Amino acid sequence: MSYEALRLSEKDAFAVSEIEKLCFSHPWSEATLVSEMKDPLSDFFGVFIEDELAGYIGGRTIAGETEIFNVAVSPKFRRKGLGRVLIKRFIDEARKKDTEQIFLEVRTSNLPAISLYESEGFAFCGIRKDYYTDPKENAILMHLAFDGTMEYEEWDDDE
Ligand SMILES: CC(C)(COP(=O)(O)OP(=O)(O)OC[C@H]1O[C@@H](n2cnc3c(N)ncnc32)[C@H](O)[C@@H]1OP(=O)(O)O)[C@@H](O)C(=O)NCCC(=O)NCCS
Repeated sequence: MSYEALRLSEKDAFAVSEIEKLCFSHPWSEATLVSEMKDPLSDFFGVFIEDELAGYIGGRTIAGETEIFNVAVSPKFRRKGLGRVLIKRFIDEARKKDTEQIFLEVRTSNLPAISLYESEGFAFCGIRKDYYTDPKENAILMHLAFDGTMEYEEWDDDE
């Protein structure tokens, strides 16, 4: 079965917040999501299965750099290719913008997500020490550079 990632708007914030609660120890609230989704610099996409939001991705482009806030798929819909559909759509949209690279952070233990990002061309570019809480953990900083270089402007591994 093939899935399509559609652009989301603030009217989808509640459904996104439900996925957040299922997936993260510090889920974004519906109010925060509404505010982010209204931001013209942000892009949110989701895959629906039988009218239910099954997964989403969100991020923002500022001053030539794109950041992915989060990608999450409801546990019952995992391992069906949705995460890949979501990240591919996000990358495609970012390519259309005046952006040089996409950044994201991921828990060092999050092998499913790291594997997904690597397979879509993201590379390691730094560590953010104790970036996460509940549980406390370092973040791996990854990026996808559209010109194919491995250069990046900011990386502080003493943080
Ligand atoms: C990471 C996440 C979004 C992947 O979503 P998904 O729809 O299950 O992923 P897909 O089915 O599209 O799989 C794509 C690739 O991801 C990797 N992957 C996904 N789940 C994996 C697992 N349990 N173990 C190892 N690799 C995994 C594989 O490389 C996979 O490719 P393959 O199927 O060719 O092996 C999902 O596990 C999730 O929502 N996790 C919780 C939220 C989270 O941690 N988000 C990332 C925050 S940085």
